Amino acid sequence: MNEVPQKFHRQPYSFVRRGDRLTARRQNAWDTYSPTHVLEVPRELTDTSVAAGASFDQERVYGRRAPLVVEIGSGLGEAVVSAASQHPENDYLAVEVYTPGIADLLLKMGQAGVENVRCVQANAPEVLDHLLPEDGVDELWVFFPDPWHKKRHHKRRLVSPDFAAKAARVLKPGGLWRLATDWEEYALVMREVLEASADFENVFPGAGATEADPEGGWSPRWEGRILTSFERKAGEAGRRAHDLTYRRV
Ligand SMILES: C[S@@+](CC[C@H](N)C(=O)[O-])C[C@H]1O[C@@H](n2cnc3c(N)ncnc32)[C@H](O)[C@@H]1O
Repeated sequence: MNEVPQKFHRQPYSFVRRGDRLTARRQNAWDTYSPTHVLEVPRELTDTSVAAGASFDQERVYGRRAPLVVEIGSGLGEAVVSAASQHPENDYLAVEVYTPGIADLLLKMGQAGVENVRCVQANAPEVLDHLLPEDGVDELWVFFPDPWHKKRHHKRRLVSPDFAAKAARVLKPGGLWRLATDWEEYALVMREVLEASADFENVFPGAGATEADPEGGWSPRWEGRILTSFERKAGEAGRRAHDLTYRRV
């Protein structure tokens, strides 16, 4: 995959390109399902960009009209495939840049026999800006975005006021944005960003408040968010997840 020098890109990327090599099983899943389940999108600068004017016709893509759930940074596809098999009544769109992750999602999808998942291999802010229509998404998930914990890397973080505005554009009024992170300081930043946005209201205002954190507003763990291998490893390293849920007003 080609890399574009950062100086030509408007905003720092929240990801770095990793190897695209696939194991035999992943390659097989990729060959079988990517032609039908990975959306083709017009590109602008790189093969993870989305050109302005791209379009997403949900009814044509899924062959029906159904609520749309979008997961950004779906990793190995654990959460989205599990949800899709439990909720065949919804359509799921996984947004991910990492080829082995998408291939693993396709493998799981094939094993689970689910019909309601599609992927787009693209940079999430561009998907929100150019691919998804205004007010088209019922739920948006951002679970364990890369924390970019060094201060000099904070500008790479996905969740920012700018990203919240993009999310607000695509979410239907009343639609939910579910977030989770194992990085406490990033959790506080996410809460600050979302509390400052006039487009969102906290579904659990004040919840989980403590003396040390009188503001609270943390969601109870949502039962639809399964334990991914990423969260399990974070737990083993002593980092617990913080959940947030906001409603598009
Ligand atoms: C730490 S992993 C978490 C994966 C998964 N959500 C989970 O909980 O296991 C973050 C994922 O986000 C993806 N990612 C980061 N920035 C992205 C972007 N701008 N667009 C799409 N995917 C992105 C990475 O490739 C990575 O797979």
